[in-house]
Amino acid sequence: MPRALATLTHREEVARGHYLLQLDCGEIARTAEPGQFVHLRVSGGTDPLLRRPFSVMLTRPGADEVQLLVRTVGRGTEIIAGHEAGTRYDLLGPLGNGWALPAAGAGDANVMLVAGGVGVAPLLFLADTLRMASPMPYVRALFGGATQEALVCWTEFASRCEEFTAVTEDGSAGEEGIVTDVLVPEIERDRPDLVCACGPDAMLAAVASICRDAEIDCQVSMEQWMGCGVGACLGCVVPARGGGYVRVCTEGPVFDTDEIDWERMPPR
Ligand SMILES: Cc1cc2nc3c(=O)[nH]c(=O)nc-3n(C[C@H](O)[C@H](O)[C@H](O)COP(=O)(O)OP(=O)(O)OC[C@H]3O[C@@H](n4cnc5c(N)ncnc54)[C@H](O)[C@@H]3O)c2cc1C
Ligand code: FES
Repeated sequence: MPRALATLTHREEVARGHYLLQLDCGEIARTAEPGQFVHLRVSGGTDPLLRRPFSVMLTRPGADEVQLLVRTVGRGTEIIAGHEAGTRYDLLGPLGNGWALPAAGAGDANVMLVAGGVGVAPLLFLADTLRMASPMPYVRALFGGATQEALVCWTEFASRCEEFTAVTEDGSAGEEGIVTDVLVPEIERDRPDLVCACGPDAMLAAVASICRDAEIDCQVSMEQWMGCGVGACLGCVVPARGGGYVRVCTEGPVFDTDEIDWERMPPR
């Protein structure tokens, strides 16, 4: 199992309750692929007992660094928010299966990225990787949040895409509404070959349904609650189309939307 001791080199509050962490973590930075995650032990003791998963948002392989975006929602993330540069973390990673990128040579691929809130993290890494591909696909992004403040790291995201549309529920930035309101006219205007999405389950279910109706390939990165992170505890399972369950930590976190039975997804 890949494991590393990482050092926090920089921590910055980039929006209220949202922290950008830069970690020096050697091999993990050199091997992480877009859509993979790290499983981080928050403290040296037992509070909290379980590791917490975070998507890799960017890597700087030359500097052996990864960036994570952490939104504070509970005990573990509150503890992380208080950490200073120099803090050491026990990390597992990179874990899981990332995005299936357009085939090499598919330079005219048209890719639509749909992010909700901190769902931007694995999509920013994807946009960064697609921008480096040769030939380069055409990449568009929709980024939704409740307010302008929820569009964390939007400039970094927008700068890696050919077209970028912000969508806020209160209209404080970009278009007013939710991302799925904008996705439908966008795919009618310029049909993508592939849609990649990360955000709340309800958003992913809606994106999956829109893409299924339009017969467009769609991948989603799922952020379920996790225990072990390596396939042993079944704490992260989601219903699979055709019956049974799939583990988000090992079969995912990125899935083709046809693999998931959205109707059996438990409400959160
Ligand atoms: C593959 C993966 C990638 C992720 N990437 C990111 C990321 O890049 N940035 C980020 O901020 N978060 C990310 N998350 C979510 C993050 O792991 C959780 O928010 C975190 O573990 C919560 O820890 P906590 O101790 O602060 O909260 P807890 O005290 O454990 O829980 C507080 C509240 O948050 C809820 N919660 C816990 N885990 C999740 C979850 N996975 N999804 C939704 N609600 C949850 C709990 O039900 C509870 O209501 C990711 C999750 C997964 C599985
Ligand atoms: S978190 Fe334990 S099996 Fe996925």
